[in-house]
Amino acid sequence: MAPDLFVRRARPQDAAAISRLNNHYANEGQMLRRTPEMIGLAIDDYVVVQNSAGELLGCGALKEYSPSVAEVAAIAVSKDAHGKGLGRAIVSAVEELARKRGIYDVFALTLQPEFFSAIGYLRVDRARYPEKIRRDCLGCARRFACNEICFAKNLVLEDVVRAA
Ligand SMILES: CC(C)(COP(=O)(O)OP(=O)(O)OC[C@H]1O[C@@H](n2cnc3c(N)ncnc32)[C@H](O)[C@@H]1OP(=O)(O)O)[C@@H](O)C(=O)NCCC(=O)NCCS
Repeated sequence: MAPDLFVRRARPQDAAAISRLNNHYANEGQMLRRTPEMIGLAIDDYVVVQNSAGELLGCGALKEYSPSVAEVAAIAVSKDAHGKGLGRAIVSAVEELARKRGIYDVFALTLQPEFFSAIGYLRVDRARYPEKIRRDCLGCARRFACNEICFAKNLVLEDVVRAA
């Protein structure tokens, strides 16, 4: 990632910009729509990438489903900043947040399988995450035609491999 960019935890005043970025992709059917109010309520779960001018170029969030399981959710990078490592850096910051909260089993439901494969996630059966299915999938209009693919990473395993 370029040296003038940095990842940080989100602040309440970021909610509108995060919502704009998120809903740009929601309009294309790639992400779920999120209002600034929804984001504001979960702002402690968000990380953002900004440039030295203070412009927000990317975001992501950790969505907890149980004390040990969370989703790497709402990952979005501004179109003109794709392919520069921002997505990888955002997911890494979300994983760091998970570790701080004692969560080591993280997953994503995504339409971007190549991205999650490239950053070390493994394709798994979504049935492994019944909490997600109960909370979100059962009430979703697309539940019988869902084309999202489930990817997961075990952060304990990753830490062991890193330390070896
Ligand atoms: C998916 C997304 C977050 C990737 O962000 P990005 O900043 O372009 O990704 P990075 O530059 O960090 O790429 C990391 C790796 O993933 C790969 N990658 C990223 N997007 C890819 C794609 N669409 N197809 C294939 N590989 C991809 C990159 O080549 C890179 O691999 P490398 O390190 O081996 O070279 C971005 O395209 C986006 O915002 N998409 C729209 C929103 C969306 O679909 N979000 C996912 C919701 S879960």
